[in-house]
Amino acid sequence: MIKKAIFPVAGLGTRFLPASKSIPKEMVTVVDRPAIEYVVKEAVAAGIEQIILVTHSSKASIENYFDRNFELETILENKKKFDLLTEITEILPKHVSVVSVRQPQPLGLGHAVLCAKAVIGDEPFAVLLPDVLVKNNDQESDLALMIDHYNQTQASQIMVEAVPDHLVDQYGIVDVAQSPSEGESVVMRGIVEKPVIGTAPSNLSVVGRYILPAKIMQLLEETPRGAGNEIQLTDAIATLQKSEKVEAYRMKGQTFDCGSKIGYLKAVLHYGIQHPQLGGQFKQLIKELNL
Ligand code: G1P
Repeated sequence: MIKKAIFPVAGLGTRFLPASKSIPKEMVTVVDRPAIEYVVKEAVAAGIEQIILVTHSSKASIENYFDRNFELETILENKKKFDLLTEITEILPKHVSVVSVRQPQPLGLGHAVLCAKAVIGDEPFAVLLPDVLVKNNDQESDLALMIDHYNQTQASQIMVEAVPDHLVDQYGIVDVAQSPSEGESVVMRGIVEKPVIGTAPSNLSVVGRYILPAKIMQLLEETPRGAGNEIQLTDAIATLQKSEKVEAYRMKGQTFDCGSKIGYLKAVLHYGIQHPQLGGQFKQLIKELNL
């Protein structure tokens, strides 16, 4: 069972400046809630019970958001604003806990995951990169399907989607004999971080959702610095894949890269038009723009 998920949130979000100068990029609002809430809820809906934030001193507002705010609760209660009270107290169900560990130096995604080693212990776990929102319209999310695949095969799962060939150098790219259909997993032959255009083994890019065994922590400890002079999770997965089965899971849903400004705007549009209260008016506003 996959019950723990690591959220690397220590990055300073330089792609999102100036917004991320004094608030974490994960706290930037998508419609009416911070971006990270969507990703945490995606994990909880897939059965995750412990959220492990790998964080930085400048990111305390993320921890505060998932904690109780007793003063605010008391004020809302006294003013009988019960809807708002429910809204802020039910961000996470009671059975879900949030813990945080610090990443003391910006040494890369692999290093961030390794910072959570003691909290993970010997269980398999999920990693969710909060820059990327994954939107599923079906009942069962891609993350839940990926966990099902793990439960059936015990093979690590790496979520991928196809990207245009000229963008492969921005992602981890997997090597597979045949591209899986959407919603399916296939055994990977390899994985490479940000390959030079023209040298990529496929156009299937790593989205930022992983199911990994505890063993990856030992491999990360031995992983030298790679692309960008950082300790890459991709490189540890490449080593893991030499000794056990690792599968690429091809997603069905849609991704929004909220670490980039245009990806963020796209997310606001898509989540905005589907918002239960605001969606109708928001669509009307877009129509009125008459673009
Ligand atoms: C990270 C991973 C990369 C993955 C990407 C997804 O890169 O290292 O393999 O494709 O996230 O967003 P970053 O975007 O942190 O450079």
